[in-house]
Amino acid sequence: MRRYIVAGNWKMHKTEDEAVNLAMALIPLVADVRSVDVVLCPPFTALAPVGEVLKGSGLYLGAQNMHHEQQGAYTGEISASMLLPLRVSHVILGHSERRHYFSETDSQILEKVKAALGAGLIPILCVGETLAEREAGETESIVAGQLHGCLEGVEISQAEDLVVAYEPVWAIGTGRTATPEQAQEVHAFIRAKLTQYFGLDLADKMRIQYGGSVKPENASELMAQPDIEGALVGGASLDAGAFASIVRSV
Ligand code: PGA
Repeated sequence: MRRYIVAGNWKMHKTEDEAVNLAMALIPLVADVRSVDVVLCPPFTALAPVGEVLKGSGLYLGAQNMHHEQQGAYTGEISASMLLPLRVSHVILGHSERRHYFSETDSQILEKVKAALGAGLIPILCVGETLAEREAGETESIVAGQLHGCLEGVEISQAEDLVVAYEPVWAIGTGRTATPEQAQEVHAFIRAKLTQYFGLDLADKMRIQYGGSVKPENASELMAQPDIEGALVGGASLDAGAFASIVRSV
């Protein structure tokens, strides 16, 4: 049985104080849930104080991005070695907003995945097609290309902890969710690709999250699919009650 993982991607929301308040409101609502890894991903500026609040709670802290180099002349960037002392354990990589607004490429994301794994961070690698790509029947080839581009050369010995998030771009922040069947179809395809890269035993243990307008109302149906082991939640993670009910529905 794979352990479910639900992550809240707070994106560019919440000042330091607001983030601390949200984390404090959430902790008691999920304190008794032992069977799910819960990861909070506030903006960089709130990682340290939210990390303090999460101490002893059993919840994990995640970053929304990182640079692949450990240090250097990269103005405005943050490295794995800066995240680790803040108790960050997970990092979202290749989110479609990074790909689209900041032109991140698969090869850059691959560097980040390798750097994160090398530093002992768990990458949450995001893949997913746009609406035009889905309508053109290209979903599988797009997702396959992204997986290949972002995982090529990743060591089998490091891959077990890696989490993949399938996030159809047309479902992110739009209120339009993939149906459980649509999501399962792509998740099964992703699992088959992971099997090809890492072998059956490992691929069977890896977690694949669904993301894109996950809400309390649709979470349990999505999570009931055989190849969906959790959710990457944007909008609904900004509300402690809504996020807690997604965690509990798993
Ligand atoms: P959403 O965002 O839940 O607001 O659709 C998901 C994501 O971007 O990870």
